[in-house]
Amino acid sequence: MKGYHNLLVALLVTLSIICFCDIYLTEAHNGEISVELIHRDSPNSTLYIPNETPFQRLTNTINRSFKRINHFYRRKLEETPYPQEEITDANGDFIIKFAIGSNHLFQMGLADTISNMIWLQCQSCSSCYKQDFPIFDPANSTTYENVPCSADACGSIPNQYCTENVCQYQMKYVSGAISAGDVARETFSLGTNDPNKFISFPKVVFGCGHVNSGITSTNFSGIVGLGPGLFSLTTQLGNSLFNKFSYCLVRAYESNHVSKLNFGDHAIVSDPGTVSTPLKYGPKGDLYYLNLEGISIGGGKRINLEVEADLANDQGNIIIDLATTLTFLPLGLYGALESEVTSRIISERVPSPIESLKVCYKSTLDSIEVPIVTAHFTGANVMLNRDNTFITVKDDVVCFAIVPSTGSFVYGNLAMRNYLIGIDRDKNTVSFFPTDCSKH
Ligand SMILES: *[C@@H]1O[C@H](CO)[C@@H](O)[C@H](O)[C@H]1NC(C)=O
Ligand SMILES: *[C@@H]1O[C@H](CO)[C@@H](O)[C@H](O)[C@H]1NC(C)=O
Ligand SMILES: *[C@@H]1O[C@H](CO)[C@@H](O)[C@H](O)[C@H]1NC(C)=O
Ligand SMILES: *[C@@H]1O[C@H](CO)[C@@H](O)[C@H](O)[C@H]1NC(C)=O
Repeated sequence: MKGYHNLLVALLVTLSIICFCDIYLTEAHNGEISVELIHRDSPNSTLYIPNETPFQRLTNTINRSFKRINHFYRRKLEETPYPQEEITDANGDFIIKFAIGSNHLFQMGLADTISNMIWLQCQSCSSCYKQDFPIFDPANSTTYENVPCSADACGSIPNQYCTENVCQYQMKYVSGAISAGDVARETFSLGTNDPNKFISFPKVVFGCGHVNSGITSTNFSGIVGLGPGLFSLTTQLGNSLFNKFSYCLVRAYESNHVSKLNFGDHAIVSDPGTVSTPLKYGPKGDLYYLNLEGISIGGGKRINLEVEADLANDQGNIIIDLATTLTFLPLGLYGALESEVTSRIISERVPSPIESLKVCYKSTLDSIEVPIVTAHFTGANVMLNRDNTFITVKDDVVCFAIVPSTGSFVYGNLAMRNYLIGIDRDKNTVSFFPTDCSKH
């Protein structure tokens, strides 16, 4: 009986592979898609630098966090809805693998919840940075098509212009980096739990970059925007995938466990114990925001957040960002939090090995006793333990990974580890479910 059952399963699997290989597969998979979020410093990443020390990686991570918070602040001050200087090239902690075109050429893109476009390096290059795996060549794909200037999609691309009736994009970064080229439509394929199968989405709008310059951290294909804007991957797949995505970040990316990004039905976060807060979009509608009302420490003292005068309540006050490691809080809230947390830790305080982190202890992460910090979002209390609030800086030194900011505020990815986080753009909610992400 068992043998017969296995045979039947094998037959069904084979049939479904034969039948659905190259077509729109969402239905066949009930719209469930999981993609690995590969930490840029993990051995599986194309950006992995084997001879970097853990301390160098840590320093780079912290520096990226500060670059990003500065970017958010500039972006907040800009007039236009999609500022031209969108990100620095050092952005992003995670990359995702996907395939493009009729031949399913594998690519690695930096996953970015604040970008609202997808772009990748394309042949023929007027200027391409070093990418040690094949650069996509539109001439090799039967599903590639340029977007004409007259198309609605062209009018909605920021900074677009027209060359020989082909819509052109141009992304300029603060660092001076540029990606520019044709706006096109192409088939994008994403992984399922089985890396040998993918689900294909036709006619995804992206930037086919023939000029990519000034980008120094190389060996990735480009940027995969996951933001709320029109041309992010999440928005474009939204219609077929219920406008939802979720992710679960493992505690330590050095281990063999992998973090996941889920779309569709898979992305519904509703296990008992899930808490939800309204999803906000910030003043310009192009970033994901939450509304933080206050923080409490060790189940005791609650410190309320004095909302800045320029932030109306319906916009939220803190950006939720997958690609920033640290959490940045307003000065007043941070000050009260710091004094409350430090007063409850008995480990020996030591000078910080890294300038931008101020509160450090001689201990390992597994042995330090720290109070639970609860983030009170509107309607959702999210409890943060030491893996969410402290970071290993050296072998026997851990530092507080929540820092003060005067400009913009960010709920970073360290605070999100071991939470399944669901972003539902139909219901406009962000859900948090505490879980062991290495088992998800
Ligand atoms: C770039 O990524 C490719 C594909 O994973 C890998 O084979 C190559 O070694 C990487 N190059 C560098 C310089 O890391
Ligand atoms: C990080 O930033 C600090 C201060 O801006 C700088 O001195 C240091 O060289 C940077 N580290 C790395 C690894 O880029
Ligand atoms: C494009 O096609 C040519 C000829 O079939 C092949 O040699 C080349 O490797 C392909 N390049 C890419 C990037 O797919
Ligand atoms: C690398 O990728 C493989 C295949 O997806 C996975 O089994 C393995 O756990 C990953 N390793 C790390 C360190 O992420």
